[in-house]
Amino acid sequence: MLKRLNHIAIAVPNLGQAIKFYRDILGASVTAPVDLAEHGVTTVFVDVGNTKIELLHPLGSDSPIIKFLEKNPHGGIHHYCVEVEDVAEAYRKLESQGIRVLGEPKIGAHGKPVIFLHPKDCFGCLVEFEDQ
Ligand code: CO
Repeated sequence: MLKRLNHIAIAVPNLGQAIKFYRDILGASVTAPVDLAEHGVTTVFVDVGNTKIELLHPLGSDSPIIKFLEKNPHGGIHHYCVEVEDVAEAYRKLESQGIRVLGEPKIGAHGKPVIFLHPKDCFGCLVEFEDQ
């Protein structure tokens, strides 16, 4: 089911500072911020060659990132994302195996379907699957 690592996501309290860190200090290529209203986040992707780092910042007052940043005020690793052949099929298989999936497949940051797996069923990690 699992293909390549697509990205590791970091929640950041200050998106501008995080962009400066990756772009200006570390010299990485960084995308423009994109608002994902359905997910309650603003995202920026940092190219690190063999994968990407996703910078996540809260969008709106009910953003799922707000609680995470309250617990981790300096920011922190929020989830990792692995590509799968078919998110819809992965969703059905996981559900049938009793693995909790957080909602139905939604369109993610790359315009492809994504799902999130419950951290309690994934050894403490929030896991994102994205269509290959
Ligand atoms: Co992600």
